Parts: sequence; C-alpha cells; structure tokens
Amino acid sequence: MRGPARLLAFIALAGGALAAPPPVSAGGPARANGVPATLGLPAMEVPADNPVTPAKVALGRKLFVDRRLSPNGTMSCAMCHVPEQGFTAHELATSVGIEGRSVRRNAPTVLNVAWQRRLFHDGREVSLEDQVWGPLLAVNEMGNPSIGYVLERIAALPDYRGLFEAAFAGRGPSSARVGAALASYQRTLVAADSRFDRWRYGGDTSALNAVEKAGFEFFTGKGRCAACHRVGERDALFTDHAFHNTGVGWRRTFGAPERTRVELAPGVHAELDRRTVESFSEPPAKDVGRYEITLDPKDRWAYKTPSLRNVALTAPYMHDGSLRTLEAVVEFYDRGGVDNPDRSALVAPLGLTATERAALVAFLRTLTGRSVDALAADARGAATAAGR
Ligand code: HEC
Ligand code: HEC
Repeated sequence: MRGPARLLAFIALAGGALAAPPPVSAGGPARANGVPATLGLPAMEVPADNPVTPAKVALGRKLFVDRRLSPNGTMSCAMCHVPEQGFTAHELATSVGIEGRSVRRNAPTVLNVAWQRRLFHDGREVSLEDQVWGPLLAVNEMGNPSIGYVLERIAALPDYRGLFEAAFAGRGPSSARVGAALASYQRTLVAADSRFDRWRYGGDTSALNAVEKAGFEFFTGKGRCAACHRVGERDALFTDHAFHNTGVGWRRTFGAPERTRVELAPGVHAELDRRTVESFSEPPAKDVGRYEITLDPKDRWAYKTPSLRNVALTAPYMHDGSLRTLEAVVEFYDRGGVDNPDRSALVAPLGLTATERAALVAFLRTLTGRSVDALAADARGAATAAGR
C-alpha cells in the first residue's frame, strides 16, 4: 500500500491506539472524535513487512514501559523517553542508564519518529525495527547481556503469554518481533495538528496570533531556520534529514567553559571550576558526531537536524542537552552558533532584535501537537495494565 490509502489504514489503527482510557486487550475502541492527529504531516512510510496492527501496537506499548526488560528491573524505554515529558527527559542533559551509568547524548523525543529517515543524532541506524536493540543491549542504557537473555526473560513472564503469538500469526518472541512490536507502537506516536498546522495547512487564520505569525516570518526569512528545518507547502517535518555542524559539538570538545554546572543530587546544582570537576570525574565522552559513521572529515561535529515539532515539550536541547531553553537556542543561532573550521555555511550571526528573538520563540511554542497528552496517558495505561 502506498500513498493516501496506506495512510488512512494507518490512521484507523492509530486511532485505536490513541484512545484514552487505553485498551487492556488488543484492538481498542475507536478515537472518540475520530479525527487523526496528522494535519501538517506527510503520509507515513511503513515497511511492507511490518504493517501496523492493533495487536502489535498494544504489545509494543507494553514493552516500551516495561522495566523488567533490564537485568535489575529498573530501566525501560520510557525511563529516558518519558511519556509525560514529551517522550524525552527534562532533568537530564545527557541520559543516565542502568545503575547510574552515563550516556554521552541527550535523549531525543520519539514523537513523530516514524518520519525520521535516519535514527540517532549521528544517523547510524535506519530502521525502527532494528534500532531497539541499541538501547536494550547498551551497557550504559538497559544493560542486557544478549538478545537471547532478553527473549528468555520475556518468555518467562506470564503476562506476555500469548501476546506475541496473537500479534505475529502464532509465532513467539524473537529479536525481529520485539523490534517489530516496538516499532509499531512508536509509529502511533503521532503528534501534529498543532496551532501552526491549523493556521498553515488547515486554513484557520486565527490559530496564530500576530507575534507568532511574525515569528514564522523570521523562521523562514531573516532567521534562515527553514534552510535546515524545512517547511513545505502541504506539510512540514522541520528537518532536511541532513547533518550539520552548528558548533555545539565542537564547543563540547574544545571550548568547555572554565566553570561548569554540576548536578550533585537530583535538582541540586553547583557551579564548579572545570579543573576541579576534571579531578574527580571522567572526562566527557568523545563525540565527533556524523564523522564517527562516515569517517568523512567534513562530517566532524555534524549532527542530525531534529524536527522541531513539539519542541516546547522536549527540553533540554541539542545532542548534548547543553541548551536548556528555547530562548537560549535562539540566542545561540543569533550569535552564529559557535564559530569553528567546519561550521555549516548556513549558520552565521543573524543580528536579530530582542523583539524578533521573542517572536521566534513564540512561534516555536505553536508546534505542540494536539495528541501529546492522550499519548502520554495511553502509554501509562499500558503500565497499569502490566501491573507496574
Ligand atoms: C538510558 C536512556 C535510554 C533508554 C533506556 C532508551 N533510550 Fe532511546 N535514546 C536515548 C538516547 C541518549 C538517544 C540518542 C543516542 C544517540 O544519538 O547516540 C536515543 C535515541 C533513540 C531513538 C532515535 C530517535 C531519533 O530521532 O533519532 C529511538 C527511536 C529510541 N531511542 C527508542 C528507544 C526505545 C524503543 C527504547 C527501549 C527499547 C529506548 N530508546 C531506550 C536514550 C535512551
Ligand atoms: C545549518 C542548518 C540549521 C540551521 C540554519 C538552523 N538549525 Fe536548528 N538545528 C540544526 C541541527 C543540526 C541541530 C542539532 C544540533 C545538535 O544536536 O547539536 C539543530 C537543533 C535545533 C533545536 C534543538 C532541537 C532539539 O530537539 O534539541 C532548535 C530548537 C533549533 N535547532 C531551532 C532553530 C532555529 C530557531 C533556527 C533559526 C534561527 C535554526 N534552528 C537554524 C540545524 C540547523
């Protein structure tokens, strides 16, 4: 199935998955208002060998929030992609995995991840089906020793009995089917139909106020944001699916500030001298971005252009979580990012006024999709159903 027919089929399925309260059994009721949350998004590409079905979505949702999928029962996908926090984690600039182990990058949101052509900040993975084994097996994320270990655990959990079989024509857990179920669930995390979409694609001229409309003008005009965060005539993904050096990664490697903000305990911060910090902590993990995948020098410190949909809900920002607010991001671009030999030619000082910067931020706050609360509630519904 290609094009609109396939999209409609998807919407019918996602409609079931988005309903609140969520279905405990597979299938699920129809969306109360029957309106899909896709206004502003192009048709979704779904692999022909893994069509989205209600049974797979329900299973994938259960797996996503299940902490028993880590050896000590503490980590699930949802611990870093927290449903109530825009499917990312606000408190942490870079993720923390099993037993407090550091991850070198910021967890991106998985909202609208179905439209990402390449996954991870460096684009090293291309399929949602395959991607799941990255976090499941990483020693500093979910920390499982092997694929077989995870499959044995699932097979031993009574509440999974029959669920794989129901979703996959009688076949039980396998590495591919764990991936297929988690991918199917993530394909239902669709959050568009924002105020921006209703204004630009839905013909509602009053959906944005004058400041927000001006912000959009700066976004596509003087701010040059849309050169990378693309906006089309019929839909917008706010990404060019490419990798660019804005200077964030370069600064992390070479330009660490003399004083750094250190988290001593959750919510307790102190400003410490860099040398003091280095004396008792591991040096920051090396990160050269896309270069690590292509080994092409022009890709040094280049990272994937993230979609800006739902960006008001997904702080902190950038691959290292180094910018905490949208105001800080806009100031960063206004300064021309961080100058370095490989900086993208598309990033340069902008000379925005305070009013223009504020309008840009106001515009970015209009990109929150209508379904985000329902999706968060839906994910937790699965948690309740699984008894945790
Ligand atoms: C310890 C925290 C942590 C856990 C647990 C975790 N993730 Fe992630 N996730 C991350 C981080 C950090 C990245 C970015 C890593 C990178 O770019 O190298 C990421 C990236 C992703 C991406 C790519 C998104 C994009 O836009 O490129 C997907 C999809 C994803 N995770 C899904 C999952 C799933 C499914 C699980 C559970 C099987 C999971 N994650 C578990 C932290 C985590
Ligand atoms: C050269 C291409 C390019 C241009 C121009 C550009 N961006 Fe970006 N943007 C990126 C890339 C690449 C990242 C990710 C950087 C990283 O992870 O270190 C990013 C990250 C962001 C983020 C953080 C999103 C997140 O989830 O972490 C925001 C917000 C953002 N850009 C807004 C803007 C705005 C506003 C403008 C215009 C003032 C702009 N961008 C111009 C490429 C671009």
